[in-house]
Amino acid sequence: MNKTIRKVAGGAGLLAVSLALPMAAVAQAVPVTSAEVTGSTPTKMNVSNANVFNRLLKKETDPNPDPWEDGYHDPENEATHALQPPKVAYEGWPRTPFGNHVDWVKALNDGLINPRYDRVDPTVEPLVMDLDIVRPVRASVPDVVFPHKPHTEWLHCSNCHPKIFIPQKGANQINMSAILLGKKCGVCHGKVSFPVTTKSCKLCHSKPKPEDWEPPVSEASLKNPWR
Ligand code: HEC
Ligand code: HEC
Ligand code: HEC
Repeated sequence: MNKTIRKVAGGAGLLAVSLALPMAAVAQAVPVTSAEVTGSTPTKMNVSNANVFNRLLKKETDPNPDPWEDGYHDPENEATHALQPPKVAYEGWPRTPFGNHVDWVKALNDGLINPRYDRVDPTVEPLVMDLDIVRPVRASVPDVVFPHKPHTEWLHCSNCHPKIFIPQKGANQINMSAILLGKKCGVCHGKVSFPVTTKSCKLCHSKPKPEDWEPPVSEASLKNPWR
């Protein structure tokens, strides 16, 4: 790990690094920061407006606060107190150990919720597409499978195509630092859908490496005469 990056990666320095250095350098800077925050003395990081909802960047508090305490609804407004608190609404629902602790994909499949697909017309049905996109990862983590099905059950193609992702396998450059900074998958994951935590890696990294997989060797190592 590069010494200078380690130094500036703390606190408000992170954003400055991401603006000043190419993506590869940011990829190194991010794990340092998250390791620092998840350590024994968690500190709230100043990450400007980059993915401020990211659970990795702040200490987990009550995942399902009452509406009058969630910081979004006006506690002074009477109507806020008429809302059903999520703790009551989610009772007995399928659980996850992250995010707001509800397994939304299962809740939808089990028929616990029936979201309206069109804002005005309640009869519109979603256009569900069952197409998995495998994204091989050069690192030793399992490969990423992007499943269209659990997305298109509630999202329209135009929520992702073409603004977030060009609809062509392998045409988009995706990496963890972009996701943690609220780009690519991070436009939603960590904000409105399940966040990146140590317990959710395997939801995206779900395809085990092939038996004969070996870590890729760099050009420099290949050309090294003393290898
Ligand atoms: C949540 C985001 C999201 C939604 C919604 C979504 N897609 Fe995609 N789509 C992706 C991603 C990610 C890829 C993979 C891109 C890559 O590998 O670079 C992809 C790839 C594709 C591809 C390329 C497949 C290939 O083999 O090259 C097509 C075609 C496509 N999507 C069509 C659709 C259609 C049609 C819908 C709506 C029914 C849809 N997508 C909804 C994210 C989405
Ligand atoms: C929301 C989905 C998602 C989650 C959750 C997620 N990843 Fe990733 N990860 C990706 C995607 C997409 C890529 C890019 C794959 C590619 O190369 O196309 C990636 C790439 C990576 C890479 C390769 C280096 C890089 O930065 O691109 C590593 C290492 C990695 N992830 C580790 C993790 C670990 C550890 C966790 C859990 C703490 C995790 N990921 C959680 C989607 C996810
Ligand atoms: C436009 C918003 C959006 C984008 C962009 C997006 N997702 Fe999702 N994703 C969702 C929603 C909403 C769900 C369902 C609710 C949930 O699980 O939190 C979901 C669910 C999933 C699931 C299913 C998890 C399960 O429980 O079965 C996986 C896997 C996943 N996303 C991976 C990805 C990856 C990888 C990317 C980037 C290539 C990505 N998503 C981009 C919104 C998005």
